[in-house]
Amino acid sequence: MRIICVDDYDQMSKKAANIVASQMILKPNSVLGFATGSTPLGMYKQLIKTYEDGHIDFEEVTTFNLDEYCGLSKKNDKSYYYYMYENFFRYVNIDMKKVNIPNGMAKDINKESLAYERKIRSCGGIDLQVLGIGRNGHIGFNEPDIKFEALTHMVKLDEQTIQDNSRFFDSIKDVPTKAISMGIKTIMHAKKIMLLASGKEKAEAIYGAIYRKITPELPASVLQLHPDVVFVVDKEAASKLD
Ligand code: F6R
Repeated sequence: MRIICVDDYDQMSKKAANIVASQMILKPNSVLGFATGSTPLGMYKQLIKTYEDGHIDFEEVTTFNLDEYCGLSKKNDKSYYYYMYENFFRYVNIDMKKVNIPNGMAKDINKESLAYERKIRSCGGIDLQVLGIGRNGHIGFNEPDIKFEALTHMVKLDEQTIQDNSRFFDSIKDVPTKAISMGIKTIMHAKKIMLLASGKEKAEAIYGAIYRKITPELPASVLQLHPDVVFVVDKEAASKLD
């Protein structure tokens, strides 16, 4: 595990974008795993800039997002599909047919989950998976006590996650309580993983992910077992590490 500690959110975003760009330069047909939430927004902005400057090309890239809320359609401005399109995909030359985000409107979530796993496998697996981290140590929407062996599946969101994510909604009661998420096993199958964190509210989760016992109670702790993982964290998120 490598830990790259930078000064602030801006530096974290630039470093993360450089790592994604390097992956794309080395392998133009990379399969990239993406996350949503506040943390990677700066990275997406940087990647757009790198693309506009002519340094990277998305034509051959395939993407898989970690998760999607159940019950929100692509057109819903709170859906992760909408987030990815509005914040990132519409600005780069990605082929939207190669963009994969779980379908939160699927009638049969189990079927959708299986199909998502198969699609990841048929594309050769994820080369680089980008992750954020919840205050409770969740990765994707794998909340504490999730089974490490889970593949893509339907999850029930924790009270704390619903509370944390309510900032994106008009009211807390509008936050979906269920989501479809890659499982821990799906994430651990990625060839490389990059976890991003910024701000002191993530410091405890970052400390736990790196130093505490590996346990489903702290889902991100499983990353200690991955052979190629890098944490890109700012000073505040790293403040409990020394
Ligand atoms: C998002 C995701 C979540 C977030 C996490 C942190 O696709 O899978 O695990 O990465 O909830 O969210 P932010 O970045 O908003 O603090």
